[in-house]
Amino acid sequence: MNVFTTSAEVHAWSIAQKRAGRTVALVPTMGYLHEGHLSLIREARKHCDCVIVSIFVNPTQFAPNEDYDAYPHKEDDDIALCEAEGAAAVFLPNADEMYPRDASTWVEETVLAKGYCGAQRPIHFRGVCTVVAKLFNIAAPDVAVFGQKDFQQVAVIRRMVRDLNFPIEIIRAPIIRDEDGLAKSSRNTYLTADMRKRALSLSRALFAAKAAVDAGERNAAAIEATIRETVTAEGWIPDYVNVIDTETLTPLQEVLPGTSAILLACRCEGIRLIDNILL
Ligand code: PAF
Repeated sequence: MNVFTTSAEVHAWSIAQKRAGRTVALVPTMGYLHEGHLSLIREARKHCDCVIVSIFVNPTQFAPNEDYDAYPHKEDDDIALCEAEGAAAVFLPNADEMYPRDASTWVEETVLAKGYCGAQRPIHFRGVCTVVAKLFNIAAPDVAVFGQKDFQQVAVIRRMVRDLNFPIEIIRAPIIRDEDGLAKSSRNTYLTADMRKRALSLSRALFAAKAAVDAGERNAAAIEATIRETVTAEGWIPDYVNVIDTETLTPLQEVLPGTSAILLACRCEGIRLIDNILL
């Protein structure tokens, strides 16, 4: 497996793959890889001949009060995991490689990025779009795979790809959960044992909501209220709970099975978790 640290090496490698008739998939990550990321690599391998995983904790998507400095790292383990999953290459740039000191250009999606996590984290999706657009230009993939866990992120990136004519297919891979239901996240490492136990209320509330919809419930306000009650009883404060249209992210009053999802973000003692479920 190749480990690259410069954009030039990655670009040359990707172009060489394509000239040799091979398709390339990109899996963008911020490292500290867990089973969720590995499932993205597996999904990517189903679609393309070679997979490149980028590992870069992107400073521009963190606000000054967020956890950029504390974000967990384990690059050596991450490289070994990528190799074990059959990735062909890892791109591990540093911040100077990704951002010239006087960089002054942003990529910003201005509609889907506004609500939900975007309302709580106003510069977040501008940072995500900018770095993902750069990674697309650097790695020139045919396909890129993102996790459903960050539902809004995938919608924003799909819109950016459509609006800016990136010739890249975006795959949304399903959420991977611990056996007890907690959605895998690098940030779960911040949870104490007690918080983790109480955090199970998020997935429990979403599973119950899905069961209610399967049994015929369509009233979004009633579904949202029950979810709020369930997580609040366990000490999690909802930032938002919304039944939404999966494409436009518009809040819905009535569930439309097949094109609806529930997005959820909660806080507890300075830690913020997100989760979602397709209906
Ligand atoms: O989902 C993530 O880990 C990040 O937002 C991404 C897509 C790698 C961009 O930094």
